Amino acid sequence: MKIAVLKEQADGERRVSATPETVKKFIALGATLAVEAGAGETASIADAAYAEAGASVGDRAATLAGADIVLGVQGPDPASLTGVAPGAWIVASLNPFAEHARIEAYAAAGYEALAMEFMPRITRAQSMDILSSQSNLAGYKAVLDAAAEYGRAFPMMMTAAGTISAAKAFVMGVGVAGLQAIATARRLGAQVSATDVRTATREQIQSLGAKPIFVETIAGIEGEGTGGYAGEMSPEYQAAQADLVSGHIAKQDIVITTALIPGRAAPRLISAAQVASMKPGSVIVDLAVEQGGNVEGSVAGEVVVVNGVKIVGHRNVPSRLAADASALFSRNLFNFLNAFWDKEAGKPVLDAEIGDAIRLTQGGRIVNPRLSS
Ligand code: NAI
Repeated sequence: MKIAVLKEQADGERRVSATPETVKKFIALGATLAVEAGAGETASIADAAYAEAGASVGDRAATLAGADIVLGVQGPDPASLTGVAPGAWIVASLNPFAEHARIEAYAAAGYEALAMEFMPRITRAQSMDILSSQSNLAGYKAVLDAAAEYGRAFPMMMTAAGTISAAKAFVMGVGVAGLQAIATARRLGAQVSATDVRTATREQIQSLGAKPIFVETIAGIEGEGTGGYAGEMSPEYQAAQADLVSGHIAKQDIVITTALIPGRAAPRLISAAQVASMKPGSVIVDLAVEQGGNVEGSVAGEVVVVNGVKIVGHRNVPSRLAADASALFSRNLFNFLNAFWDKEAGKPVLDAEIGDAIRLTQGGRIVNPRLSS
């Protein structure tokens, strides 16, 4: 069983899909590990560290030759997979809804493509959940990015020269990233409020010492929502939410938006008029910018300034913390393959609950029901 670890080729991708720690663990399972030279460089991992852990380090062709499993952070370009035989697994974050041509090419090549972001949200799969591990870091980094762009301090400070008041931060979307953003902003000393459409988050917001801001007139999504996810809200709810946000946002210094709906464009939560109501010097970080954006006027990969309000739209925020993001992503991949490792077969054998959820292609076809509509 040969496992290949590729150097990521996507623009701006600094993470890597295995670390020396997970290389050692795979080898302990009986696998052979091949790492493409330079794969860990942008995550501060030297080739020598992989070699020391027991992997062979070589060029892409040598890494891929005869690989049974190809690991990636993002899905590798199918045309670059020379030497990988039909039946091999491609295990990565495959962006299935946006990368149709790529998924079709994996199918045509006979690969079994496994999309880690389709991992079901069940208790036993928590340690395999790349969305959680990466969103957590993105939520943290979003607050640091906001602090870096903000021309003031976060905490209240009483100094001999007078008092500085605490920054007011508002977090919209309280999933994994939002919860970490609340905790981080609180640690930095901001006064934090937060909102979501799922009612279960109210208590979570309070338990982190932040103030919940909720639409009270129209029911939101009961409890956690299906599988922990939100859906699209009714026009009435959206109107009530817009009203609520208009009243609140003008008083905020920092806004972090994280709202996503799986398989759809991100919901628009802040209009240009609401941005215009904010004070100059305020900062908005739109973590959903690559899914269409929660904020009108946010631009992926840019910091836009509108009437003195900065709208931060960094792409691939987890990659901005490449070392930790790689460590957690790599452990997610290891935890997944390890959980299904069949000692006798010397390879992982998936069960239906997880296998059918994450398998995109098999036997030359696209097989995932979420991709068929
Ligand atoms: P996500 O990234 O899909 O969405 C982020 C947040 O945006 C969610 O809380 C969602 O309710 C919110 N949102 C969507 N539309 C909105 C709108 N119009 N206005 C305001 N907020 C809106 O969600 P994420 O962070 O991936 O996880 C959500 C929940 O899933 C977690 O809080 C947790 O309860 C659950 N979960 C369970 C796991 C497991 O059991 N394995 C693993 C990870 C998360």
